[in-house]
Amino acid sequence: MSRIVAAGQGLVDWVDERFPLVSTWKYHMSEYYAPKNFNFWYYFGSLAMIVLVLQIVTGIFLTMNYKPDALTAFGSVEYIMRDVSGGWFIRYMHSTGASMFFVVVYLHMMRALLYGSYRKPRELLWIFGCMIYLALMAEAFMGYLLPWGQMSYWGAQVIVNLFSSVPFIGPELSVWIRGDFLVSDATLNRFFALHVIALPLVLVGLVFLHLVALHEVGSNNPDGIEIKKNKDPVTGKPVDGIPFFPYYIVKDLIGIVVFFIVFFAILFFGPEMGGYFLEYNNFLPADPLQTPAHIAPVWYFTPFYAMLRAVPAMFGSQFAGVAVMGAGVIILFFLPWLDKSPVKSIRYKGPIFRAALAIFVVSFLVLGYLGVATTDVWGRMPEVLPIIGGVEVATIASRLLTLAYFAFFLAMPWYSRIDKCKPEPERLTG
Ligand code: HEM
Repeated sequence: MSRIVAAGQGLVDWVDERFPLVSTWKYHMSEYYAPKNFNFWYYFGSLAMIVLVLQIVTGIFLTMNYKPDALTAFGSVEYIMRDVSGGWFIRYMHSTGASMFFVVVYLHMMRALLYGSYRKPRELLWIFGCMIYLALMAEAFMGYLLPWGQMSYWGAQVIVNLFSSVPFIGPELSVWIRGDFLVSDATLNRFFALHVIALPLVLVGLVFLHLVALHEVGSNNPDGIEIKKNKDPVTGKPVDGIPFFPYYIVKDLIGIVVFFIVFFAILFFGPEMGGYFLEYNNFLPADPLQTPAHIAPVWYFTPFYAMLRAVPAMFGSQFAGVAVMGAGVIILFFLPWLDKSPVKSIRYKGPIFRAALAIFVVSFLVLGYLGVATTDVWGRMPEVLPIIGGVEVATIASRLLTLAYFAFFLAMPWYSRIDKCKPEPERLTG
């Protein structure tokens, strides 16, 4: 046994003379001190990494049997589901994984909002996160075209058409994106290339930068105070920190096990999730001559889709809605500079910030509902809410909620300054 250990040590030494193996391990794992009070909300970063790997691995296996061709794409997915051994399992892991990726990332972002993790010195870490979110949306959108079902086709048609509303260059821009005057084989080919190679590379690169930035500044925590301020005079280590390895590796493993229980429960018992994860219309092959009665994007896009529909067309153009929708995502980048509160965590923030955050979250969720609720053939507002005095309640609701969404950000410099915060503690409170 000791000989095996000695041989192992010899190998590590050999590598270490040629590559910074041990120092990297120490810097990022065994001597990376993380705050000792991480809670439930801190599971989602490691879970996002697990789902990213899962998507890449299942994606590679899907690509082995998928055909990026308008004539054969739909059939190749059916072939994967019915004939390829284990094909249904791989495909459902990938489709469930896409939705679960967004569940995990939304919870991960929520944690940052709760504890002010976007504040100095983590601005760049937050910006890399926002870029990941944008890349993830592009990745999911392009992937959704690949099965070449009715929703794939018409969803892409609607979204790419939005670009044609951009002043001056719009029509040319949308033709350039599609590679044709309609969504067609050329569009499918380029979306395939972007989905399987370009965007995954961008995502992996951004996640790497995200983690480098995180380890440079250190993790925030539920108290929102910097553990680096309190170092042990003898060891020089933060007194409120514990090494990432083994403590947080073990904690994250528990999160991963629970996550996979939920993940496989969905996969085995309801992979379509009542039409939310896989829309029913997408089990019909794409038909450019037959518009489906209801076109709605997958649930993770619907808050922004509701914003788009909330804004009325002006001068015969939908551009204002498109701009509002785009601004809804871009405004996230500015968050670190909008929050002027003297404290970071919601634990010490005052009633105004707490109320603003609660209204923001409710607005986002209800917008998500209004975006997914069925529309008529013209993509107008849902008929699920009544029409009073000729005005659709759903339209008014989405307008007010869109305003609330933007007010959270735009009024933040003001309300975060006048809010009555509690003093932050000197040390972590647990
Ligand atoms: C593929 C997607 C992503 C992956 C794999 C990822 C990974 C991680 C990991 C492993 C951590 C450290 C563990 C933790 O704090 O949970 C982290 C922290 C963080 N992430 Fe992400 N992340 C992703 C997306 C995002 C997005 C979309 C945002 C925001 C827009 C974001 C913002 C942050 C922030 C602010 C922190 C520091 C949190 C703190 O220290 O309190 N991340 N991320």
